[in-house]
Amino acid sequence: MSQSTLRPIDPGGLRVGIIMDGNGRWAQARGRPRVAGHRAGARVARRIVEAAPDLGISVLTLYAFSSDNWRRPTREVRSLMRLFRAYLRTEVRTCVERGVRLRILGRRDRLSASLLAAIRAAEAATSGGQKLLLRVALDYSARDAIVEAAMRACGRERLTRESFAELLGAAMNLGEASSDLDLLIRTGGEQRLSDFLLWESAYAELVFSPRMWPDFTPAELEAAVREYHRRERRFGRVPGESGREAWHEVCATGGDRE
Ligand code: FPP
Repeated sequence: MSQSTLRPIDPGGLRVGIIMDGNGRWAQARGRPRVAGHRAGARVARRIVEAAPDLGISVLTLYAFSSDNWRRPTREVRSLMRLFRAYLRTEVRTCVERGVRLRILGRRDRLSASLLAAIRAAEAATSGGQKLLLRVALDYSARDAIVEAAMRACGRERLTRESFAELLGAAMNLGEASSDLDLLIRTGGEQRLSDFLLWESAYAELVFSPRMWPDFTPAELEAAVREYHRRERRFGRVPGESGREAWHEVCATGGDRE
């Protein structure tokens, strides 16, 4: 089966993105090296992935390493890369058992051969998963992906949101068109997007948690999902109205004159 024909079991499920922030501060507060925070963070990621399907989540995207994170100290970057490789190798079996399809998004040309091999093996082994699509963003920059998609679009006569989403999906190594996020969660107390899924977050509901990522729990994920369901998503419309576009009546007929 080709990647593009694969679909999660529930196409109507929630699409959630998480910016897992606060590992370094969590470790430093305990007098431990930052990498201890990342290791604890990886364990939390595992629990969150386990909890996601029962909360109605069908696509979960975790921001593991941004393209700007290459600017961190070499030691930390090396430890993170080792951690990602170990995570991929150890999680494959659980992912297969739980119906989780794993996909790594972002650039691949700056990753080591051994990490690339682990990525390819994990993606191939889990490609039949239909319960949850787990995307891990690695060497990912939303702006770079948008620029790359725009370059791929050059020369096209017509470009729609849908065809751009196809190009964006290709630019991100998604294996399918890029799709919207419903809910974006950021832990660690900061309230910013940090170049994560900018196009896909156009109408995402944002939930910010003061918790450092290693302290984040499935119960808090559930609370964020509940919060999402309490919110009214209007997409620019007024509640109770049909949402029919009024521009023609107002503009083309001169209906905006006093
Ligand atoms: C941000 O915290 C976190 C990262 C840059 C790495 C995220 C990685 C993991 C959670 C572990 C691996 C997970 C998977 C799914 C493979 P920070 O270091 O910026 O924290 P700080 O803001 O407190 O310094």
